[in-house]
Amino acid sequence: METDPLQTRKHFILGFGALLLSGLALSSTLFAKLVSYLSGDRMSQIDRTLFLKTKLSRMDQTASERKLELERKSSEYIFIAKMSDLLATKGKYFIDYEMRPALAFQSSEDGLPILISAKCTHLGCTVGADLDENSRILCPCHVSYFDIKSGMPHAGSPAKAPLPHIGWVIMDKQSKIVASKHPKREVEIVEKLDMDSLDHYSIYIAKKFASKATGEA
Ligand code: FES
Repeated sequence: METDPLQTRKHFILGFGALLLSGLALSSTLFAKLVSYLSGDRMSQIDRTLFLKTKLSRMDQTASERKLELERKSSEYIFIAKMSDLLATKGKYFIDYEMRPALAFQSSEDGLPILISAKCTHLGCTVGADLDENSRILCPCHVSYFDIKSGMPHAGSPAKAPLPHIGWVIMDKQSKIVASKHPKREVEIVEKLDMDSLDHYSIYIAKKFASKATGEA
């Protein structure tokens, strides 16, 4: 039987066209998948990097907190500052034995340290380090002012309880205790301090004065 060349050519063109169309469809699908794979992967790489960075910084933070905690568990005294480094109007932050933020000032009256908790007794924010003209520190969260000397919050403040004071000892260059203060008692002077050479003295917090030891909150 003889085949019609015209018919054959027509079938060939139709078949070729179909093949071409399916090829194009396939390659565009592949291309779209490739683009989405590449861009998706790049996104997840950025996400992964961010995730790892956050994780690392959290690990760093946890590690330094753990270090501070261990130091506090194993040490009878923790160095806070040289006496010459304390200021009367701006506190120096430190972490107390209970791992709470605290502030160290120099008393404008006798030049001795004033150590006070910086954890607001309202909802636990960290209070600011600057004293105002009335010798008060401010918790900016809901505006509570605390008197640095008594620790008491001002009238009308959302905080009702005082910021507790923290006991301290002063050591000379030979690590001899020359003065100390229990948080609720008067200063005990063992040896008269040379107030003109404050850089000879260092201030420490003492485990025996920590709130767990003294039964204070
Ligand atoms: S947490 Fe300090 S005033 Fe509320």
